[in-house]
Amino acid sequence: MSSSPPNLAVDFAGVKLKNPLVAASGTFGYGVEYEGILDLSRLGGLVSKGLYMTPRDGNPTPRLAETPHGLLNAIGLQGVGVRAFARDVLPRLARHDTAVFVNVCGDSIDEYAEVAAVLEDAPGVAGLEINISCPNVKKGGLAFGNDPAMTHAVVAAVRKVTKRPLIPKLSPNVSDIATFARACADAGADGLSCINTLLGMAIDVETRRPKLAYGTGGLSGPAIRPVAVRMTWQVARAVKLPIFGIGGISCAADALEFLIAGATAVQIGTANFVDAGVYEKILTGLTDYLVRHGLTDIRQVVGTLEIPERT
Ligand SMILES: Cc1cc2nc3c(=O)[nH]c(=O)nc-3n(C[C@H](O)[C@H](O)[C@H](O)COP(=O)(O)O)c2cc1C
Repeated sequence: MSSSPPNLAVDFAGVKLKNPLVAASGTFGYGVEYEGILDLSRLGGLVSKGLYMTPRDGNPTPRLAETPHGLLNAIGLQGVGVRAFARDVLPRLARHDTAVFVNVCGDSIDEYAEVAAVLEDAPGVAGLEINISCPNVKKGGLAFGNDPAMTHAVVAAVRKVTKRPLIPKLSPNVSDIATFARACADAGADGLSCINTLLGMAIDVETRRPKLAYGTGGLSGPAIRPVAVRMTWQVARAVKLPIFGIGGISCAADALEFLIAGATAVQIGTANFVDAGVYEKILTGLTDYLVRHGLTDIRQVVGTLEIPERT
């Protein structure tokens, strides 16, 4: 007797995702670079590299350093600028049946709103992810993401210029992430991305210099997963918004940790640099898990964490 495979589709802030796997910003180029490497239509969605109004070169090299089970980066938001993206990249992405989210950056509150306004009439944009959490730029970025009042101000300013789903990306470099989740919700966010990279540093002991030219960098990869899962759980308890769980996901069990903690969907970042087959591997693993647990729908897993009572 054959039964139909379990449902993997989810609704994220009004956006239909055919499955809960989305490529994370900055680790998947603008998406088009992966044409020919994998079938983009197999992804639930993808998030573009961060975009400002104008092109940027990013930081000097070296900009990447491997650390135990992790990657330290200080790319510094290199990019082509939002107009070139809308003109040259969005039409190419439209050929693929996947949800395209755009990672919006700014040196000022006005710039965030300007970038969002440019995208308002651009076809093929499913939603805006607001990057208030990049640790690798001197202006903007983390400066907005580690002050609740600034977080509120940025999200409210972008809210004024867009009807698109608005998804601020939270920084883990704060002491109480729930406060920031609430500030975003109050300012009109439709969803949250949780988390960006953790501020870190690696030193070459022979030269006694930082391994990255920028000095510090953002830590990603499996090393940060327990921090990211904990924060996803805290955010899910603090607000009713859908959450993209992000941080060190490279297999189905990793993705399930975030879903069980309360994420509606997940993003995959550093694993893209290791294995382009990671999406197929996780999709198979999620289906196997649902079948093994007698479940018919991935949504039956979301927010099902059980915490035994402490004795
Ligand atoms: C090389 C690199 C570049 C990144 N660029 C961006 C970016 O442009 N905007 C952004 O919001 N996050 C950026 N991130 C953060 C990732 O989207 C993700 O939040 C983080 O890496 C944690 O997920 P992971 O452990 O699966 O990589 C970048 C991460 C890496 C490793």
